[in-house]
This record gives sequence, C-alpha cells and structure tokens, in this order.
Amino acid sequence: MKAAINTRYGSPDVLDIRETPKPEPKSGEVRVKIHATTVGRTDSCALKAHPFFMRLVTGLWRPKKTILGLDFAGTIDAVGSGCTRFSPGDRVFGLTPDGFGAHAEYVCVPEGGPITAMPAGKDFGDVVVCEGAWYADTNLKKFKIGPGHKILIYGASGAIGTSAVQLSKSYGAEVTAVVSTPHLDLAKRLGADRIIDYTVEDFTKIGEQFDFVFDAVGKTTFFKCRPLLKPDGVFAATDLGPYWQNIFLPLWSSITGNGRVVFPMPESSRTVVDFIKARIDAGEFNAVIDRRYPLQEIADAYRYVGTEQKVGIVVIDVLP
Ligand SMILES: NC(=O)c1ccc[n+]([C@@H]2O[C@H](COP(=O)([O-])OP(=O)(O)OC[C@H]3O[C@@H](n4cnc5c(N)ncnc54)[C@H](OP(=O)(O)O)[C@@H]3O)[C@@H](O)[C@H]2O)c1
Repeated sequence: MKAAINTRYGSPDVLDIRETPKPEPKSGEVRVKIHATTVGRTDSCALKAHPFFMRLVTGLWRPKKTILGLDFAGTIDAVGSGCTRFSPGDRVFGLTPDGFGAHAEYVCVPEGGPITAMPAGKDFGDVVVCEGAWYADTNLKKFKIGPGHKILIYGASGAIGTSAVQLSKSYGAEVTAVVSTPHLDLAKRLGADRIIDYTVEDFTKIGEQFDFVFDAVGKTTFFKCRPLLKPDGVFAATDLGPYWQNIFLPLWSSITGNGRVVFPMPESSRTVVDFIKARIDAGEFNAVIDRRYPLQEIADAYRYVGTEQKVGIVVIDVLP
C-alpha cells in the first residue's frame, strides 16, 4: 500500500509517499481501506516534534510512529478472527486509537475501539471531523455545559472552534463566537448567537460575563479573559499558553479548589465516535472543509495546516 512516511522529524519535506506492506488485522481488529483522512494540528506538531517534550511520547531521536494521521473514513476491507461488529464492505469512520497511522491506504484498528458506522448519505470527507470534535467535546463535557449556560468561544473558525460552536448549540447553550472578519458568516452558519470580530473589537471588553470561556485556538490567556467570566465561570484552552500556564493554572485551580481553569486531556474511546455520529445523524454537526488534497500532495496539506490559518478541516483523499 502507499503511505506518507516520516522516518525523521522535520518540515513537510521529510515526508515520503512510498510503498509499504499492507497491515494484517490481528484477532479483534478490522482493516479499513481509507478513502479520506485529515492533516490536523496534532499531525503537524508530531511531524516537527514541537513542542520538544512531545518526543517523550513520539520517540526521543526519531519517530516511533512513521505514519501519522488520526481521523479516517473508509470501508472495511478485512476482519481478524473473533470480529463480529463489522463485515467487509461496511462504511465506517473513526480515530486511530493508539495514535496515528491513517495517512495510508489501509489501517488496522480494534473493532471495539473508536470506530463506528458512517452516517447515511454522507461522503467520506464529511465525517473525518473526529479530532476537532473530540477535543472540543472533551472541554465541553468538563464544563458540564447545558441549557441556559453562556459560553464564549475564542478562535471559533478552526477545527476545534467550529466543532465547539456546533456542539455547544447542541447542548443547548448560548454561544458567542470570536473570529476574524472573513469568518463572520461561517460563525453565523454554525449557529452562533453572537459574533465578535476580534480584528475590530476587543472581545474582552464587551461588557458581558459567561459561564465558560473556551480558547479553542490557544491564542489568548486566562488573565486576559478573566473579566469575561462570571464569579464561578470556568476557562479552558487547547494549547499550553505562555510559559505553559495552561498546565500550571489548572493545577493551581485544583489545589485551591476554585476550579477556574481546566485543561482536560481527551481519551479516545468508542463513545466519542458514537457521540459524533449521533450529532451528525441529528443534523446538529456538519464538517467545515477548508481544502482537499490527494495523498500524493499531503506535504502541501501540512504546509497549509502549518500556517495556522485553516478553517475547519483539511481533508486528504486517499483511495477512490
Ligand atoms: N490539547 C491538545 O491535545 C490539542 C490537540 C489538537 C490541537 N491542539 C491545539 O489546539 C489549537 C487549535 O487547533 P485547531 O486544529 O482547531 O486549529 P486550526 O484549525 O489550525 O485553527 C486555525 C484557525 O484559528 C484562527 N486563528 C488563528 N490565529 C488566531 C488568533 N490569534 N485569534 C483567533 N483566531 C485565530 C484562524 O483564523 P484567523 O486567523 O483568520 O482568525 C483559523 O481559522 C492549536 O493550538 C493546536 O495546537 C491541542
């Protein structure tokens, strides 16, 4: 099979599209013929091994996983012994459970892991949304968001941000989305109740307070957003922030018991993809696709994702 292989860390130039043996499903695993995957910010960081501490997980000197890619959508191609949930030909989507492997024509995953049947009437590119939705929902669940809550989502145009707006609405919350001018219409389409253009207005001075402030793009801080929080309001961010403060502030928050800052780590499980499928089936969640690239041009997709300007997801079309 063809795969995008990175045997060393570096820029997208280190990626090599080449033949590698097709994986064989072990007992309890299914093999998926991949039609669509994505290049996300996690792939982009893993390719560069940036921040450096990622190497503790991804390999100190060289990558332990030489095929990246978290999201996949495709058809079941083969099943290992003991599999009963899927049969060859079934259309499925999900997340690679133990990290990466989807930037290839085939991947093997446990059938009891984060994989589920495709929603009816959807294209493969429409469902490779799990990475963003997973991170967004991890934070929303930590907030225990629900009807009557007010949330401000900063960076509402990225993969996590567009997911957070749609999922917050599906939880019944009132959403204020903060984006730049080109993304005002998008935020409206996604269902935001109020939209702030951060290029023309200081979103921290809008004179309103929220139950939750979610920095979906990791570009603001708790201290800037503090005036936006109700006395018992909670802040979360998706990135480490200056001086890794988004690691230390939640620690301080839990030591003092004030719970003002949280930084939950997502756990991949079947529940996650079943939840996303249910939202898509209910018409509450739609993919926001910025660009599509064939697998052969995946290095260009990485270059684009590296600009930190993508809107929603960047889809890689793998096999027809
Ligand atoms: N916690 C984790 O384990 C985890 C996992 C995955 C990703 N992440 C992090 O989460 C963050 C978001 O990931 P993502 O994939 O959703 O990002 P993304 O899709 O790359 O976000 C890009 C979007 O953010 C907007 N943006 C860029 N700079 C901005 C700023 N200063 N203020 C407001 N909006 C800005 C851009 O539009 P404009 O510039 O036009 O506004 C663009 O639409 C990244 O920092 C990523 O590293 C964390």
